Amino acid sequence: MTEQQRVHPVSEAFAANAWADKEKYLSMYQQSVDDPEGFWAEQAKRLDWITAPTKIKHTVFDTHSVDIRWFEDGELNVSANCLDRHLASRGDQPAIIWEGDDPGESKTYTYRELHARTCQLANAFKELGVKKGDTVTLYMPMIPEAAMAMLACARIGAIHSVVFGGFSPDALAQRVIDAQSRLVITADESVRGGKRVPLKDNVDAALTRDGTDVVDNVLVVKRTGGDIDWHDGRDVWYHETVDGQAETCPAETMNAEDPLFILYTSGSTGTPKGLKHTSGGYLLHAAMTHQYVFDYKDGEVYWCSADVGWVTGHSYIVYGPLANGATTLMFEGVPSYPSHGRLGEVIDKHNVAILYTSPTAIRALMAHGDDVMDSSKRDSLRVLGSVGEPINPEAWEWFYRVIGNSKCPIVDTWWQTETGGIMIAPLPGAIDLKPGSATRPFFGVLPALVDSEGNILEGATEGNLVILDSWPGQARSIWKNHDRFIQTYFSTYKGMYFTGDGCRRDEDGYYWITGRVDDVINVSGHRMGTAEIESSLVAHEAVAEAAVVGYPHDIKGQGIYIYVTLGDEYEPSDALKKELTQWVRKDIGPIASPDVIQWAPSLPKTRSGKIMRRILRKIAANETEGLGDTSTLADPSVVEDLIDNRVNRG
Ligand code: PRX
Repeated sequence: MTEQQRVHPVSEAFAANAWADKEKYLSMYQQSVDDPEGFWAEQAKRLDWITAPTKIKHTVFDTHSVDIRWFEDGELNVSANCLDRHLASRGDQPAIIWEGDDPGESKTYTYRELHARTCQLANAFKELGVKKGDTVTLYMPMIPEAAMAMLACARIGAIHSVVFGGFSPDALAQRVIDAQSRLVITADESVRGGKRVPLKDNVDAALTRDGTDVVDNVLVVKRTGGDIDWHDGRDVWYHETVDGQAETCPAETMNAEDPLFILYTSGSTGTPKGLKHTSGGYLLHAAMTHQYVFDYKDGEVYWCSADVGWVTGHSYIVYGPLANGATTLMFEGVPSYPSHGRLGEVIDKHNVAILYTSPTAIRALMAHGDDVMDSSKRDSLRVLGSVGEPINPEAWEWFYRVIGNSKCPIVDTWWQTETGGIMIAPLPGAIDLKPGSATRPFFGVLPALVDSEGNILEGATEGNLVILDSWPGQARSIWKNHDRFIQTYFSTYKGMYFTGDGCRRDEDGYYWITGRVDDVINVSGHRMGTAEIESSLVAHEAVAEAAVVGYPHDIKGQGIYIYVTLGDEYEPSDALKKELTQWVRKDIGPIASPDVIQWAPSLPKTRSGKIMRRILRKIAANETEGLGDTSTLADPSVVEDLIDNRVNRG
């Protein structure tokens, strides 16, 4: 059905000025897969190397010994690539435009200023004893200091681990302990949509947990001036420590394969995984995709509305744009505050040419009707981008017509925390658009579809999405757990990287991501493991057993549907539902807030005791007609009860 939908052909005028038209895309793509060494050796020249690499690619996807190295004898510094090398040519050009939550607040940092502030912070890090190879945890609002902190880490060779500000103290503690960070950077409070979030209080709570005594210092940005507790000897004010520092700081010489950052993400099982990204390959991938996928042109204002706590913020607010000498807009607020016109108003205020946002944000605005955009013109827009979850064709068309005034190509970009940068997306001057399809692979990316046995499927078909060979931005490992890395990504299908996503390929070779095929759910573009939410719930005294599944949600893409079996001595009640909701919010964070809780006297299980999630997913989605074979269930009557008592979500 979907292929019959409208195709939006590349406009000739756009193609004429684009970095890549169809011919160029095809020839570069071909070269990138025929001769990866030659292709990437040439592309690597876009970075400033201290020692140019001669060894380009050493990558092994063997199930027993995954070993991924790019540019392994090259040396560079990522912060120097993002700052110093632009000083002579564009020192006075805005590097970061910061738009506050309050529309009255904004601030611009030129490359020269960003360089100076970053160096001061890097010097402060040194004074606090942070050394090359140490990890630093950031738990910060969307303020320029977050980007400075990332760049300052890179400058001295420290490894950052950014934890999204919406995570709970426990989630933060878990990540601080896993990364063994000696320094945590935060702010007194963050501000979003007019509301304050007590970041420093959360850090204080996190650091009472066992195992967090590795933390020597907490560096605190004064964002709101709100009331906070102070721990003498541990807490230090950002302004007091940083402002007096020298405005230059030598950039440490780093090997291309030295770690740049760790970023935690959820999987099907266990605790969140700290994906390890390294320096040279990651930066090259981020910069190159930022240029080609968004067709970024010098001097344009580019806005990625993600949070720096996610990989999208890392690659497309900070590293990609700054490596390209772009002007990147950083937004502290939300699209609905103070009104639903805010997104468009920010675009007009700062002359944004490229907007990169999420399907959830688009659907939330769309629900308010077309006139939600009446307060802005958005004439400056040239390219639109979407990321994080499948975009339904209706939302795509609305994004195109209402936000983009029917003149801007939309790049639907598929990628993951693990991939470091964009993997499948249309280059806007090269590929005709089909709403809902991420279209074609980026240079060097070899996607394939496999059946459950790992056989590669040809032609127009549907299967599990794998990538057959390495690309420079690929995560190298899971922090301190390479076995888990191999197990998670390379053991399902031999010799291939398994994405965890299902996908369809049409007769034009376009890829259509259909969503996760594992026990990961994607709520408003936030990735969560159902197992994490389940283990939080069973830690509550009333819960004997819990099963969590995703279900289709009009705005969020997927909602969180929870089946709970209570312990014998507990009775279902609305009060208990509220309590369990609060429990999960407190344990993991508000992003894991359950949408639906259904009481389940028992859960459908196979005779060997395995919960049949397929059935639970269908009931949650109200697809109870085609439940499939339930004869393998230990007690098929369980299903009847769940269907009869399904919670109607309206
Ligand atoms: O299921 C895919 C979905 O988001 C997952 C990756 O999540 P995360 O690591 O948090 O990174 C999100 C931002 C890159 C993928 O496995 N996903 C991401 N982009 C798309 C998408 N699904 C469909 N279309 C996309 N464009």
